[in-house]
Formats: sequence, C-alpha cells, structure tokens
Amino acid sequence: MNLECAVCGATVPITTPLSWQCPNVTSSNRQHVLHFRGDVSLNVIDREQNPYLAYRSLMAVDAFGAAIGLDDEARCRIIVDADAQVEKVAGTGFRVTPLERANQLSDALGFSTNGGIWVKNDTGNVAGSHKARHLFGILLHLLMAEKASVVPWARSSRPPLAIASCGNAAIAASTLARSANWPICVFVPVGAGREVLDVISSLGADIIECPRRTEDPPGDPCIHRFREAVSGGAIPFSVQGTENAWCLDGGRTIGWELASQASDLFDGASFDRVFVQVGGGAFVSCVGEGLLQFGNRPHVHAVQTEGCAPLARAWDEAKRRRVLDDVEHHWGECMWPWEATPHSLADGILDDETYDWLSAVSVMKQTGGHPVIATEDVVHTAYSMAHDFTDIDVSPTGSAGLAGVLQMRHDIGDDERIAVMFSGVRRS
Ligand SMILES: Cc1ncc(COP(=O)(O)O)c(C=O)c1O
Ligand SMILES: [Zn+2]
Repeated sequence: MNLECAVCGATVPITTPLSWQCPNVTSSNRQHVLHFRGDVSLNVIDREQNPYLAYRSLMAVDAFGAAIGLDDEARCRIIVDADAQVEKVAGTGFRVTPLERANQLSDALGFSTNGGIWVKNDTGNVAGSHKARHLFGILLHLLMAEKASVVPWARSSRPPLAIASCGNAAIAASTLARSANWPICVFVPVGAGREVLDVISSLGADIIECPRRTEDPPGDPCIHRFREAVSGGAIPFSVQGTENAWCLDGGRTIGWELASQASDLFDGASFDRVFVQVGGGAFVSCVGEGLLQFGNRPHVHAVQTEGCAPLARAWDEAKRRRVLDDVEHHWGECMWPWEATPHSLADGILDDETYDWLSAVSVMKQTGGHPVIATEDVVHTAYSMAHDFTDIDVSPTGSAGLAGVLQMRHDIGDDERIAVMFSGVRRS
C-alpha cells in the first residue's frame, strides 16, 4: 500500500512518517490530494466492537505501523491503549455504531415493508459525531510513529496539533488531543458559537480567534492562521484530506461497518442508495470508498443545501465540459469557492469548497449516484421528521442526508433500501 496524489501522480511510500500532503503542494498551488492505493485484504474480525481493531487489516495506518517496524502486538496495543484514554475523556471509546430501520419514518415516507430508511446513528460516536473517526486515524499514525522513534521530536516536546473548525470537528479534535495529552490549537472565526467554545475550552484546547486581517488573501482567515501554524511546525489535525490525507483512512471504518451491517441485514446484499450530507467531502468519500472496498455499490448521493452546493456545481460543470472521467486534471475549472455567503439551518456543512471533491465525485460515478441539492424548506422538514419519527437527538446538519431523500423521493422506488447517516448530536 502507498499514497498517491490523485492529481499529479506523485507517490509517497507507506513507510514515510507524517506524510500528510502531496510533496508537490506549494503555497500557490494546493490542488493536490494523496489517496491510499493498494489491495486491502478483507480478513475482518467481526466480533470485535472497536472498529479500528475489527478492520485493522484494511487500514493504512496498520500497514504504516508494520512498515516502520512495529509488530502485530505493538500495533494492537497502541490502538487499545489510545482507545482506553479516549474512553476516559469522552465517556465512550470507539465502537461500531448502530444501524436500524426507522420504521415510522419509512411509513411516513410511503416505503413498502421491503424497502425503507435505515439510519446509521453516529450521534453516539466519540464526541457526538463521525468526525473523531477521521481524526483517530491521524492520532494512531502519530502514536505509531512515536513508538517506532521515526518522529523528529521528543515526547516531552511534541509540536501542537492544529485544526480550523468551530463545530463537531473542533470538539472531536480537542477530545482526542486531551485523551493523548497532546497540545492543540483550534482556530475559530469571530463570533463562533459559545456552546462549542465552552466544550473545547473545557477540554483544554488553545482557542485562537481569527479576525480577517487587511493583508489576508481571499478565503477563510481561520484556514490562513491554521496553515501558518502548520508551516511553523504544528501537525495538521484536520478532517480535510487536502490538509491531511490520513483523515481519509480512519473515516473508512464507517463505510466498512455499513457494508458489514447491510450484509447481515440483507443476506449478503447491500443498500440501493446511501445519502450522505457533505461539507468538506471527507465523510461521503470515506463512506463511499469503504463500501466499494467491500464490493458494495449502492448509488451514493452527496447532499448539499441550496445555500452552499459547490460539489453539485462541480459535478454539473464536469459533465458540461465532458471531463467527469478526468476531473483530477480539471480542478480549477470545476471546483471553486461558493461566492454567496453560505447559509442554511444545516450550518455544519457550509464549507464554501468541497475539499475532497475528487474522491466524492469518484464514488458517485462508480456507484451510479449523483449529488442532490436540498432546498432550505426540505432541510427544515427533514430535521422535523427526524425528531418526530425517530428518537435520535440529531442536529439539523446531521439530518441533512435525509433532506436529500425527501428532495428526490419521487425518483426512489417504494421497495428501495435507503441508508442515511445521522451524525452530530444536537447541542442547543
Ligand atoms: C454532523 C455532520 N455531518 C456531516 C458533515 C460533513 O462532513 P464532511 O465535512 O466530511 O463532508 C459534518 C461536517 O462538518 C458534520 O458535522
Ligand atoms: Zn500532487
């Protein structure tokens, strides 16, 4: 297994520690992203409830650990110990999250008893959303690299982790940093919500408010400050594959779980469609890649809101230019920041650019899926229905995948089996 840049083809051997980005990234050309390449073997230990142990043989971080000289026992020990520390801080360690048919919701939406909506409930994940799944993979990489002494620092002088977020990702990052006793800088916008700031400050994060500076180039000032910190030696503890490719490793545990759970439910078969709400695009990419690695091909639908839909726009643009099969070489023509100020009740998916769009497009293309834009009315309806017809305390962002189902319900057969991902517990 290696890392390969999806854009320029540069390869980075799996043995390379801290291999976060394509070596050809420059400050003026960031349109590169490393993806994991290579066969994965599917000898999964299903009875294991910790997904990082259950799917260890599929994980790049395990291949990395082995390649830098850690034996099987040492690699397992790192996962088990890190998970135990997470459990102390978060009240739960990493566990397979439940997938259940939402019967009332399925009835309300007119599905037959064969079809319906199955909700994968990630609100009970570490830190209340799927975000920690991405980040734990990066943390394992760091812990394995430290254990094998292939990092340029001593344990007592670890460089800080860094993330630009004021939502679920910031909470997940601060939780994991605390669990590993690793310093973290969280770059937040002016006016970030008190709720999240209180949580991350109670976890000991160093919060840096980022007003726009007159000399700043266009774009999010939090990202500018984050990148400056990374240039200064901080570790990009990011849920965007473009900033840290290793977030795309652990995130796949959700896709692998979904494939295994579907197979149990449907006698070896899979879903007909999967709807995933999209911000930066890592979530849908990982769910889609994970499903594909298990040979599952449900139509993957990336759901955005009408107030911010750069991925759907990129898909249309790629089709119009007839480059859907070659999007890697048309980044700038297809993906650019949403011009209008993004807005939606689903405020956690308002990334003005879909950073992991190449992989998101790839999984939709391979599965015969396509993006869905939910109108704001439908986002509201989905949120109400999630609360009226399930007992999951999901946030409006976390129910936005369901908005995609509502938006295209007339194109979905009553017998179809649909998976939606509820992630992000309601916080206010
Ligand atoms: C609850 C929830 N669901 C989905 C997403 C989207 O994930 P991604 O940014 O990887 O597309 C987010 C991201 O912020 C989120 O908080
Ligand atoms: Zn590259």
